[in-house]
Amino acid sequence: MNKITKAIIPVAGLGTRFLPATKAVPKELLPIVDKPTLQYIIEEAAASGIEEVLLVTSAQKPEIGKHFAKDVALEDFLRAHGKDALCEKVAHLSDIVTLSFVNQEAPLGLGHAVSLGRDFAAGEAVAVLLGDDVVAAEPPALAQLIQVYEETGASVLGVQTVAEADVSKYGIVAPGEATASGCIVQRLVEKPAASEAPSNLAIMGRYVITPPIFDLLDDTAPGKGGEIQLTDALNTLAGQENVYACAFSGRRYDVGSQLGFLEANVEFGLARADIGEAFKDYLRTLCAHLD
Ligand code: G1P
Repeated sequence: MNKITKAIIPVAGLGTRFLPATKAVPKELLPIVDKPTLQYIIEEAAASGIEEVLLVTSAQKPEIGKHFAKDVALEDFLRAHGKDALCEKVAHLSDIVTLSFVNQEAPLGLGHAVSLGRDFAAGEAVAVLLGDDVVAAEPPALAQLIQVYEETGASVLGVQTVAEADVSKYGIVAPGEATASGCIVQRLVEKPAASEAPSNLAIMGRYVITPPIFDLLDDTAPGKGGEIQLTDALNTLAGQENVYACAFSGRRYDVGSQLGFLEANVEFGLARADIGEAFKDYLRTLCAHLD
């Protein structure tokens, strides 16, 4: 059993839900306050022990690489103008993890995106994080999954309960035997109708996957939406070996939806040491005038 030091993050999506903002700016670089959503995800990975990240991207998104690349000229400029704290924030970007990139040529689905990480994984168990799910948690959500992996040596899915009305938006887990490390997954369904959902335990964009998943992904036919689904390959895996569901603690924001994105901006803004108090005062005044 290897230590989890690698993560795959799929970022090739078109971000159509955020058009027109995402016409020229990748959705992963839209900020929560002043930090791109993808940076939160990569910082969570690093705080969970990840050293190398593979971004499965598209040729249309060179800005993502630019955000995390060293920019000596900008750092020199900031230092020369006495903006050392800001310079630290910029210099930090190229130090968080070692990044590599692979292009997903066609939008064939999350399962296909993850399958492109086979060479990167090189026979090891790896983490997968999805950029639409930003999680405020201590310990970080991925670290909670890795703990279960270290106890079991098995694949682990991060789950939280959702309202029945929302089950059709997620991969849903049918829970089996409960163990000290979490429940063993009996089966999985990608975005079932509420009437067909086996539970309201939804996969929330955090996974630890063991090496057999790559062969299973290659053999997985297109499923929901005509796309190759990671959930379907994990369902097959769950029939062959133990797969665990980890009900991680923490506040998860669906930053892939406009409402979730606004909630994240408000709550992260309130939590900020520099502007939090002033923002709270503003919100109090605003709320007093809402009908
Ligand atoms: C993906 C997965 C789904 C998971 C969700 C979490 O769906 O396919 O199983 O529950 O992410 O956010 P997407 O929202 O990308 O369509």
